Amino acid sequence: MVRQGNTVADIGTDHAYLPAFLVLNSISPKALACDVRKGPLNNALKTVEQYGINDKITLRLSDGFDEIEPFEAQDFIMCGMGGTLMEELVSRTDWLKDSSKRLIVQPQSHAEDIRRYFIENGFEILFEDACIDSGKIYCAMAAEYTGCIKERPVSYIYTGELPKCRKPEAKLFLKNILSRLITKLEAERLHGTSEKAEYIKKVTSETEEIINEMQTDC
Ligand SMILES: C[S@@+](CC[C@H](N)C(=O)[O-])C[C@H]1O[C@@H](n2cnc3c(N)ncnc32)[C@H](O)[C@@H]1O
Repeated sequence: MVRQGNTVADIGTDHAYLPAFLVLNSISPKALACDVRKGPLNNALKTVEQYGINDKITLRLSDGFDEIEPFEAQDFIMCGMGGTLMEELVSRTDWLKDSSKRLIVQPQSHAEDIRRYFIENGFEILFEDACIDSGKIYCAMAAEYTGCIKERPVSYIYTGELPKCRKPEAKLFLKNILSRLITKLEAERLHGTSEKAEYIKKVTSETEEIINEMQTDC
């Protein structure tokens, strides 16, 4: 999802594996590897030294995007954090509302929070992907600012562009979302308000329909 030739900033980098991969494979000429804690940045330093890429990777202590200047990168990555934290970090960084910049996110949980932020604030989700690694399923998406706010079905914050990704992993990811929604619906019916239960019911049935109609390549 990183555009060939673009400098990246990886927020919450920990071991800096992703920046290292990008520069070692000549996808990015340079990278900023950022983390809010010193411990992960020490891990990042070990990776950078191991591969001898100190001249290409800058380590930076930064809470979200706070210590990054807008001109320092074109593609901005956040992987392995919750979608709620991602939303918080992106929403306080106004300069990300720039159509030349790309945000690439892989929320570990609550992907709906960052999707909701994107669609309500003029970002377009360009595409999404899903994969399984060591028995765990992940989804990632690329988004850019357009300034347009499009009308979307209520389920969009849960499904995003994953239905267009024709991989079986994307379908499996959506099936996991559906079972979470069903659990949520049962909880709302028992302990919540009828409006909330009605909303979750609509999201659940739309998601189910999307999964049933979804075509996969194998
Ligand atoms: C689970 S690790 C993910 C590491 C790596 N991105 C990956 O996907 O394998 C999450 C990292 O995010 C960092 N982090 C948490 N909150 C952050 C914030 N507000 N700003 C920057 N980094 C943060 C943590 O210190 C940790 O190193």
